[in-house]
Amino acid sequence: MTVTREVLAYYAQDLEHDRLREGRGRLEFWRTQDVLRRTLPPAPARVLDVGGGTGVHAEWLLADGYEVELLDPVPLHVERAATVPGLRARVGDARRLPVPDGGADAVLLLGPLYHLADRADRLRALGEARRAVRPGGVVAAATNNRYAAVLDTVNLGTYLEERQREAARAAAADGVMLSPRRGFTAYFHHPDEVAAEFAEAGLPGAARYGLEGTFWLHGDVDDWLDDPHRRALLLDAQRSMESEPSLLGASGHLLTVAHRPG
Ligand SMILES: C[S@@+](CC[C@H](N)C(=O)[O-])C[C@H]1O[C@@H](n2cnc3c(N)ncnc32)[C@H](O)[C@@H]1O
Repeated sequence: MTVTREVLAYYAQDLEHDRLREGRGRLEFWRTQDVLRRTLPPAPARVLDVGGGTGVHAEWLLADGYEVELLDPVPLHVERAATVPGLRARVGDARRLPVPDGGADAVLLLGPLYHLADRADRLRALGEARRAVRPGGVVAAATNNRYAAVLDTVNLGTYLEERQREAARAAAADGVMLSPRRGFTAYFHHPDEVAAEFAEAGLPGAARYGLEGTFWLHGDVDDWLDDPHRRALLLDAQRSMESEPSLLGASGHLLTVAHRPG
């Protein structure tokens, strides 16, 4: 089972390493960390980071005392992740995890579902996460929100370009976006869709967390993130509204978290 040539070509450009480490990407990073620190089983515990990229989350999870194994289909990501002290990294696909049943206390899918436009593939990935986690363990998955491409392209001004506009509108219509800039097909979930996919994969009762709220669209978000006092206030503001249903779709990303029954 392999990912598309377009996905591999995009990530081979080595654009992923800094994505969450600078600019407004830091809001997604800190908010993901904030939610996971409240929802993962306490350390020490075994975390399987599927689609873990170059190890941006694995690094702090290791520092928090977790044992982390990272899987990613992009060899460059695995190569970089393997340089993180204490991190085991190897090539793997979310739809067929090369791990035993129930060996992890938590499975993270922080990216693979962005790339699985076919619902059957997403259910396979979630089913594999369920298989890999022990009963009572946690599965957490990040998804792109359905309207994020329209919101973002208007925010950045690229909505003025017809190809960008059409791609973003297509994503808003049915979730599938062929990104003109990135060259691959991505999937944008409606916030109500993700928990249903979790349930169908045997992970009922999922909780939903909007990661960025509307703050990722604010022109001065970098100023808030740069200043420790303002950053703490911003993260606290979003935490206070993170599961409010009327706001879930405004975030760029949703984090969905469930326990394996049993
Ligand atoms: C946007 S990056 C996210 C990386 C990191 N987890 C993060 O949160 O920054 C998406 C990641 O998913 C990986 N990916 C794409 N398709 C995948 C698949 N079928 N199975 C597992 N990982 C996949 C990509 O190689 C990439 O590293």
